[in-house]
Amino acid sequence: MLDYRGYDSAGIAYFDRGIKIHKDVGSVEHLMQSVPETIASNIMIGHTRWATHGAPTKLNTHPHLSFHETICLVHNGVIDNYKELKAKLTEQGYRFYGETDSEVVANLLESFYLEEKDVLLAIQKTKALLHGSYAIAFFVGDAPDFLYVMKKGSPLVVGKGKGFNLVASDASPMIEHTNDFLELEDGEFGFLSQDKVVIYDEKGNEVEKTPIHKDIELISHDLKGYPHYMLKEIEEIPQTISRLINAYFQDGEFRFDKDLLTDLRESDHILFIGCGTSYHAGLVGGRYFEKYKKSASRFIASEWAFHPTYPGKKPFIILISQSGETADLIHCLKIIKEHNLKNLIITNTGGSTLDRNCTYSLLLHSGVEVSVASTKAYVAQTTLLAMLAAALEDDKAVVADLRQAINVVNDIQDHYKPAIQEVAKELAPHKNVFYLGRGYDYFLSLEASLKLKEISYIHSEAVPGGELKHGPIALIEPGLPVIVFITDPETAPSMRSNIEEVKSRGAKVYTISTAELSSPEDAVVVKDYAYYLSSVAISSVAFYLAYYVSLEKGLNVDKPRNLAKSVTVE
Ligand code: AGP
Repeated sequence: MLDYRGYDSAGIAYFDRGIKIHKDVGSVEHLMQSVPETIASNIMIGHTRWATHGAPTKLNTHPHLSFHETICLVHNGVIDNYKELKAKLTEQGYRFYGETDSEVVANLLESFYLEEKDVLLAIQKTKALLHGSYAIAFFVGDAPDFLYVMKKGSPLVVGKGKGFNLVASDASPMIEHTNDFLELEDGEFGFLSQDKVVIYDEKGNEVEKTPIHKDIELISHDLKGYPHYMLKEIEEIPQTISRLINAYFQDGEFRFDKDLLTDLRESDHILFIGCGTSYHAGLVGGRYFEKYKKSASRFIASEWAFHPTYPGKKPFIILISQSGETADLIHCLKIIKEHNLKNLIITNTGGSTLDRNCTYSLLLHSGVEVSVASTKAYVAQTTLLAMLAAALEDDKAVVADLRQAINVVNDIQDHYKPAIQEVAKELAPHKNVFYLGRGYDYFLSLEASLKLKEISYIHSEAVPGGELKHGPIALIEPGLPVIVFITDPETAPSMRSNIEEVKSRGAKVYTISTAELSSPEDAVVVKDYAYYLSSVAISSVAFYLAYYVSLEKGLNVDKPRNLAKSVTVE
């Protein structure tokens, strides 16, 4: 199941003396209450929908049945020109029950199928008209032993079994049943039956595909005694850091691909691109590379894709993505490849689209991250970037600093949760929160603020301490919670002045500091560590805080509203 990625409605369809569809808003567990225990069908399609076109309603939920009830379809992706196609189909007498772009595809396929009486021809004619991205699986009521697939822009993987075949957006939900996979390329389409998989290229020529054997980790739904995945994943941070050290530093030496290090050393500019939390990791990573005299810039993927810039004569691109399937980043990779630029993906997901298609790939080895709010993956991304940057100059001191950071994280886990919970109780009733920091602490503030808004629905802003007076200070009012990070010796005095500025305007300040920079009134004082590692050493304070606020408000910590774990639409 891909339900861990986040969804708001779910549905399945099969053929049992006619096309049968069960779908509804809400969870898969809720859906299953209306599904018979045994189903006699050779095919079945299922979908968990994260609303893009049209609200999360039953009518907008997949699978979609075409108007004349011949085609039943599920779709991942976005059809950009669905409005024009819908208008044309409406002129032909088609009626639509929901507002989705996917229902338009079902009807377009049907219009060609009724005309040609040939599914493959209908697919080709449909493909020629669709603009946008899609991974589609559908069946036709007239031929209920075959499942048809088509792909462009969105990932689609076929799982090959003995006496059965499967298809999904990635290999992970199929790994329980098979280890052999066929990956479809853009433009490819075909069909599956119980014992056959036939794939055609863009032009309609049959292509031979050799299955790839994968031993990927089974997505564990074992909470191991924790009440939520987020808490479990925060508490896995120490082992995440040490696993990365063991993977990329052995026998006293960094173990990165030599060609990768050469390409990085030879490049004159490094671009870091990511979305959300992964972008925040890129902000930190850029600073790490600058520490070793590499010039660097950082971009949000969806911004860069529409205005790609390549500073320097020999740029190298580092893409960062926990899932390896983020559509905005895949769009960037397409542009990067058109320009023949060397690139690296840092991802937690071996076998993902970005892992397969980048020049180099470094895995985070963090174990599956289920909670929508990314925690251990962020720490893994920044840990790995610290090591990679250090490897350029063989600066082994970083490894010792990371080991020290592990102790700090363990100490936070063992001793600080009650204090953080107290702060969370005070934050929970508020509508607005500010986070302040400078340098590495500002980067951490951005991540802390994103985490809080994602799972507590409290509006929060991260502001660099020095920027306050240039505008945001206008919002400071009596009682407003302001969370301040002070872990950098260079910026600590200025941050203390910022605290006075907001306090004098009535703000309630909660400071998170390190022992050497602490002041008696600070809310949380952690052990000292190498200050440049704040995202590794003390991000867990921010994660616990967001977690406890969400708990305090009785919200769905692991699956917050409107969010998906893997954002496969642009
Ligand atoms: C993190 O808490 C978020 N859910 C989100 O910002 C996420 O980091 C972003 O969507 C990027 O995902 P990726 O790392 O899988 O590319």
